[in-house]
Amino acid sequence: MAAMTRKLFVTTALPYANGAFHIGHMMEYIQADIWVRVQRMRGAEVHFVCADDAHGAPIMIAAEKAGKTPQAFVAEIAAGRKPYLDGFHIAFDHWHSTDAPENHALAREIYLALRKNELIDVRTIEQFFDPVKGMFLPDRYIKGECPRCASPDQYGDNCENCGAVYAPTELKHPYSTLTGAKPELRSSEHYFFRLSDPRCVEYLKTWTQDGKLQPEVANKVKEWFAEGDDGKVVLGDWDISRDAPYFGIEIPDAPGKYFYVWLDAPVGYLASLKHLLERRGVDFEAYLADPALRQVHFIGKDIVTFHTLFWPAMLHFSGRKVPDNVYVHGFITVSGDKMSKSRGTGISPLRYLELGFDAQWLRYYIAAKLNARVEDIDFNPDDFVARVNADLVGKYVNIASRAAGFLAKRFAGELSADVGVEGRALLDGLRAHSGTVQQLYDEREFGKAVREIMLLADRVNEYVDAHKPWELAKHEGQRIGAGPPQADGAPSAGRAAGAGGHGSALHDVCTVCIEAFRVLTVYLKPILPALAQQVEAFLRVEPMGFADAQRALGRHRIGAFQHLMQRVDPAQLERLFETPTAPAPAHPGGEAIAAEIAIGDFAKIDLRIAKIVLAEEVPGSDKLLKLTLDVGEGTDAQGQPLTRTVFSGIKSAYAPEQLTGKLTVLVANLAPRKMKFGVSQGMVLAASHADEKTHPGLYVLEPWPGATPGLRVR
Ligand code: MSP
Ligand code: ZN
Repeated sequence: MAAMTRKLFVTTALPYANGAFHIGHMMEYIQADIWVRVQRMRGAEVHFVCADDAHGAPIMIAAEKAGKTPQAFVAEIAAGRKPYLDGFHIAFDHWHSTDAPENHALAREIYLALRKNELIDVRTIEQFFDPVKGMFLPDRYIKGECPRCASPDQYGDNCENCGAVYAPTELKHPYSTLTGAKPELRSSEHYFFRLSDPRCVEYLKTWTQDGKLQPEVANKVKEWFAEGDDGKVVLGDWDISRDAPYFGIEIPDAPGKYFYVWLDAPVGYLASLKHLLERRGVDFEAYLADPALRQVHFIGKDIVTFHTLFWPAMLHFSGRKVPDNVYVHGFITVSGDKMSKSRGTGISPLRYLELGFDAQWLRYYIAAKLNARVEDIDFNPDDFVARVNADLVGKYVNIASRAAGFLAKRFAGELSADVGVEGRALLDGLRAHSGTVQQLYDEREFGKAVREIMLLADRVNEYVDAHKPWELAKHEGQRIGAGPPQADGAPSAGRAAGAGGHGSALHDVCTVCIEAFRVLTVYLKPILPALAQQVEAFLRVEPMGFADAQRALGRHRIGAFQHLMQRVDPAQLERLFETPTAPAPAHPGGEAIAAEIAIGDFAKIDLRIAKIVLAEEVPGSDKLLKLTLDVGEGTDAQGQPLTRTVFSGIKSAYAPEQLTGKLTVLVANLAPRKMKFGVSQGMVLAASHADEKTHPGLYVLEPWPGATPGLRVR
């Protein structure tokens, strides 16, 4: 039983390191993060990890386009992850990269074990070659018609429409998306994982059908074991190699061959865990060997085959632990719009945060919509406002504010030790739902859990409305308010100073509210971790787990109430959807002002005053000048000033001798760019019109007198 499991290894899919997170990524992280927090609140020991999926042709080609090495390219993407993860309270224990040494080693180890197990074949295959680009075409760069459902413009490895997995050569009417050329077939040696081996088929038939997967996923996967006319299972062997040039892990004993990115990507789960455990002084293999350890992967519906066929087979037949569960979620759409993987949706998670929106609103909203099935969910702005404002703030947050003031003013913040029969009944009722709430969370029925909790909040609000603390306060006002202040100046606590052992009804009602609020906070804590932390501070209690909802605080002094959560302003919400690229009025420069950025975005650009020590022509180039710049970076071993070389496209506007000796402004932290004539180590600023052909003129920036090399421009 899940409730008994104490050790968990949990992952989310490793996002491709070729772009920023979109709302779909955040939804997956939020789902897994809530689940992990639930397990932790029940006392489980969880290792929750992720990593960048760094390899593969798309990243290699994107890096090339950006003029960077793939390593530098993915490092930049990785450096941008933190604000999203912190901002949305995603509590990964570690974030790694599939290009890290652990992954290289583990991927090779797993491969060698599979080879030893006689599950690797080498075959010469015919593969598409782009005659224009001069390289074998990665699957993703061939498109054509799906051989199964005939959808046009499908990628070369699997169909996004029907989910079929096939070889690119099976596509109808193929073309290279790099050059548009019709690809040619050429032969090349490829490495295959023999999934068609009867051992694999038998193993996977069982593994996929024994309760590890959601029923609809298991049923879908079953199709892959369907038997053909000849009675043989059609599960095909899996091509796991790619030819150089490729950004990936070299295959042992196979020069020029690399693992296909999907072979080393899931290994990244283990590499990330290994790195984390080593940092914590825990033995990786021993940790995985513990039979009590449960391994859980959260993934989206588009990558099911990789996780339910290839991955468990790779693990099992290399003698490793296999996943215990693969939990598949659907996709999030925005106002009904299906977003593309690359474009994302109209909502940028970072913009959401920058506009000052509470990340917990989105966590709550997504939780309220999620269930355990592979269903898509929709972000609907009106629905979002209603759920957050009416339910989250209106029903739950307000309970605390309705009671905290009276407790502070009338009872010095002290809770009543005994709240009476009715109050106890209400609280017991709330506490009795702990098991159900935990079970719903554990089963990933988050929407049901939220509904359950909101029904409990309704009960509390009914109790408040029936007992009207504001009226009790009026009646008890004179009696208690008139009492003499205590030595510390605080008004005397009603019960203590009250009339001969008679409790104050106001005190009891407010105490019930605070206790009820505390129980609801425990239930909502996996979804609202930051708010729960504020509540813990306000109530002056230790971080709460589910067990803490079961007992009363008794006579306990709470702290001062502080505002907990804002309502969503629907007008603000509209700004979330404004397209930053909206056409702006004409501008003398022929260019609209670019999308608004935050000051932090600007601060990323390191602009420095640079002295042009030397400007020279570049033989063979009619656009470039070669600049040698002093940016105040000190001197070398010989005492010569350290300089930078920058190639600048300003030859049309300046003769070299005009520039030598002048000061200008350099973008000093731009990644070095390899150009035909050498490496350029930055960029000099110059003004120009958007259309240089119709409006020639180029003006290099020069600081006012007094500036010296190395000063930062801000
Ligand atoms: N790199 C692979 C995964 C390798 S796992 C060993 C990949 N990356 S991805 O960046 O394209 O997707 C990462 C995760 O985000 C996947 O689980 C994917 O299903 C999920 N989502 C991508 N778009 C999504 C939505 N619109 N909605 C919800 N999840 C979505 O695939
Ligand atoms: Zn198809």
